[in-house]
Amino acid sequence: MKNKFQQNNANEGSSHSSVARKIKRTSAFLSVLFISSLLFICFISPKINAGSLFENQNVNNKNDSLKHYRSFKPGEEWYDTDGKIINAHGGGMLYYNKTYYWFGETRGRSASQGVSVYSSKDLYNWKNEGLALAHDADSSSDITTGSIIERPKVIYNKNTNQFVMWFHLELKGKGYSAARAGVAVSNTPTGPYKFLKSFRPNGNMSRDMTLYVDDKGTAYQIYSSRENYDMRIVELTPDYLSPTTKDSLISSDHREAPAIFQHDKKYFLVTSACTGWAPNAANLYVSKSLFGNWQDTRNPMLGKDANMTFYAQSAYIFPVAGKKDAFIFMADKWNPKNLTDSRYIWLPVEFKNGEPNIEWKDEWDLNYFGKQ
Ligand code: GAL
Repeated sequence: MKNKFQQNNANEGSSHSSVARKIKRTSAFLSVLFISSLLFICFISPKINAGSLFENQNVNNKNDSLKHYRSFKPGEEWYDTDGKIINAHGGGMLYYNKTYYWFGETRGRSASQGVSVYSSKDLYNWKNEGLALAHDADSSSDITTGSIIERPKVIYNKNTNQFVMWFHLELKGKGYSAARAGVAVSNTPTGPYKFLKSFRPNGNMSRDMTLYVDDKGTAYQIYSSRENYDMRIVELTPDYLSPTTKDSLISSDHREAPAIFQHDKKYFLVTSACTGWAPNAANLYVSKSLFGNWQDTRNPMLGKDANMTFYAQSAYIFPVAGKKDAFIFMADKWNPKNLTDSRYIWLPVEFKNGEPNIEWKDEWDLNYFGKQ
């Protein structure tokens, strides 16, 4: 039998061993903790960091669209200063108060959603200024929701101090049969524009169209007529709001998508053939006077896919402010499955012996002008 002492010793022994067990357990626990912390630090935590980095990268990727452009990349996605894709098709350009205003069709997958306007000082980076002209919810309006607004162009009238927008209008539910021109006005470049009226100029069908203001401040509409077989030009009234009866034929070659500019006392008119959204070969009409005789000369496109206008269709040609002999050709690479995603092809007009050419470039910038 164990005496008290022995008992105590035994107790002590057992308490010693229980302390030892506790120490063992604690140290085992601590080493597990230590090892798992090590594991966590070495393997898991970097992954978490990488994960959050990755998320940041995603944000950065998203923010890539917020990048500052320093060049044109024809046919690539082009984002506005909010990081949203630019939605301004069949467009035109207004230069006013040292600012460029790019007007174009706002398109859904196919729907016409009015006219958008973007502003820029450098032509690369564009701020969305919202809808310049919205469809009207009122079903009695010519531009009611469901009607089609295409190829908007805006010019500034110095005498009335108004910005005047013309566009191709198709009435709701009538396909492309109405073939009318629409007119809207605003006291500011970005609008909103007030819709005034729509009509067929001098009774002529009016589909694809552009506007042009000559050196004297007289304005003209150039438009596809007679089921697009005719290309016509009509002088506008001094307020730019209506056509005059000075309305004449440019050609009867079944052309559309007119884009005009003047250089060295000659007028140049680029048009496309009539194949809907599908690309085709452009041509170049040349004349010394706006009212003719217009000569059909040749396809002015050069380089890769020139015979398909680089899979695009002419929209507008505008002079670059402050640069001599500098014009930019704007065209639409239509995506009929999703018109929002139709891309923009902007290329410089190059002159060789006074004759313009538009040559494909993967990337270019405004320094190109002056280096010719
Ligand atoms: C094209 C025209 C475009 C658009 C399209 C509709 O010929 O240039 O602006 O109207 O047809 O199919």
